Amino acid sequence: MTNQNAGHNETKDPASAARGSELANDFTVSVHYDHRLYREDIAGSIAHARMMGRQGIVDKHDVNKIIDGLVEIAEEIESGKFKWKSDLEDIHMNVESRLFELIGDSAGHLHTARSRNDQIATDTRLWTQKVCAQAFQSCVALQRELVKLAENHIDTILPGYTHLQRGQPVVLAHHLMAYFEMFDRDATRFAQVAEAADVMPLGSGAMAGVPYPIDRDWIADELDFQEISRNSMDAVSDRDYIVEFLSASSLAMAHLSRLSEELIIWSSDEFGFIKLSDEFTSGSSIMPQKRNPDFAELIRGKTGRVFGSMMSLLTTIKGLPLTYNRDLQEDKEGLFDTADTVIKSLDSATGMIAGMVVNPERMYKAATNSFVLATDIADYLVRKGVPFREAYIAVSNLSKQCISDDVGFGELELSDFQRASDLFDNGVMDITLESAVAARDVPGGTAPNRVREAIAEAKRMLAEAEE
Ligand code: ARG
Repeated sequence: MTNQNAGHNETKDPASAARGSELANDFTVSVHYDHRLYREDIAGSIAHARMMGRQGIVDKHDVNKIIDGLVEIAEEIESGKFKWKSDLEDIHMNVESRLFELIGDSAGHLHTARSRNDQIATDTRLWTQKVCAQAFQSCVALQRELVKLAENHIDTILPGYTHLQRGQPVVLAHHLMAYFEMFDRDATRFAQVAEAADVMPLGSGAMAGVPYPIDRDWIADELDFQEISRNSMDAVSDRDYIVEFLSASSLAMAHLSRLSEELIIWSSDEFGFIKLSDEFTSGSSIMPQKRNPDFAELIRGKTGRVFGSMMSLLTTIKGLPLTYNRDLQEDKEGLFDTADTVIKSLDSATGMIAGMVVNPERMYKAATNSFVLATDIADYLVRKGVPFREAYIAVSNLSKQCISDDVGFGELELSDFQRASDLFDNGVMDITLESAVAARDVPGGTAPNRVREAIAEAKRMLAEAEE
C-alpha cells in the first residue's frame, strides 16, 4: 500500500500529522484490519455531515458534496476498487483522504465537531452490535438443530456420566437439551452485549465535547442508537462493551468446546455412540481407516485464542488514565478475530449436529453393560424402609461382587440380590433402564415425558427468538 495518488494540498491532508518514518508508520498502522469498519465509519460520517447541515454548522452545499463523496467511496470499497494506503494509517484517514480527492476542499468540513476518538468508538459500537446479532442468530440456529435431534431421541437411553464414569441412565434428548440451555444463555448474553454497545459516543469529540451546536439525539436516531453517552471522557475511552463481547464469546466457546469434546469422545471406536458426517471430518494422510473429527477439534482448539483476546483487552485497559490512549487501538484485532471465530464455530457445530448419525444400540449397550441402575436399586431398598446410607452400602457390595464375577446387574437372579439384603423381593427384577429414566419424573429430570415438555418449551422459546 502506497500513497500514489494523494492529489490534494499537503496542508489540508489529514494524514500529514499521522505520517512518520517508515518504521513508525508500520508500527502504528491499523488500516489492514480496521478497514473492516468501513460501513460503520461511512454511515457515521454521513449522519454527522447531515446533522451539521441541519444545524447550520456546515453549508448544505458542502454537506451534499460530502455525502455524495462518501457514498461513492462506499461503492469503491464494495467493488474492491478502493486503494487502501497504509501511510494513511487507519480507516478514518483513508476515507477522508479519498474524500478530498473526490470532492476537493468541501471534504475539509467533515471533521468539524468530531474527533477520531469519538468516531472510532462509534464505529466499533455499531460493528459490535452487528456481530452480536449474528452471533445471536448462530446460537439460535444451533439450538434449533439440537432440538431437532433431541425430538428423535426422547426414548434413546445412554449412560449419563459423572467424572466420565457411567453414573445413571438418561435419554439422549435430555443430554442434548443440556446444550440447548447453554446456548440459550449465550444467545441471551449476546443480546445483552448488543444493548451495552447501543450507546452513541459521537459528540464527545476528542474527550471534552465539542464547541458547536450539534444535535446528538438526532444522530443517535439516524444511526439507530437507543441512547447517547452521558460523559464525554468516559465515552471516548470506554471499551467495556468489547470486553463484554469477548466474555460472552469466551463462554460460548467454552460451551462449544465441551460439546466438541463429547462429539470427539462419542465418535471414537471405544464409544461408537455417533458418526460425524464426512463434511466435518477428514482422513489421515497415512492411516487410511481414519475419520478425524477435525472441526470439533478446531473448535476446541480455537477456544484458546478467544479466551486470549479477552485477557489481552482486559490487560490493555487496566492501567489507562482517562481518556483516549492509543493503547485502545489494540482492541480491534481481538474483537474481529473473536467475532469470526465464535460465529464460524457456532455454525460448524450446527452443521456437525445436523449431519451426525446416532447409534442408539451402542448407547443402550453401554448403559446395559454397566452399573448405572445402582442408584435405583438402592432407592428400591429405601422404599422398603432402609435408610439410604445402608442401602448404598448393600448395593455397593453387590456391585463389587458383580465386578469380580464379571457380571452385570441385568444378569443377577433374585437370590443374588437377597444375598446383599433380605429386603429385596421380586420387584427388584422390574428395575430396568426404562423404569429408571421414567422414575426421574421431576421438572428438569430425564423422564421422557418431562423431556418432551422441555422440548415443547424450547420450541416456544425459539419461535419467540424468531420474532
Ligand atoms: N485508529 C485509532 C484507534 O483505533 C483511531 C483513533 C485515533 N485517535 C488518535 N487520537 N490517534 O483507536
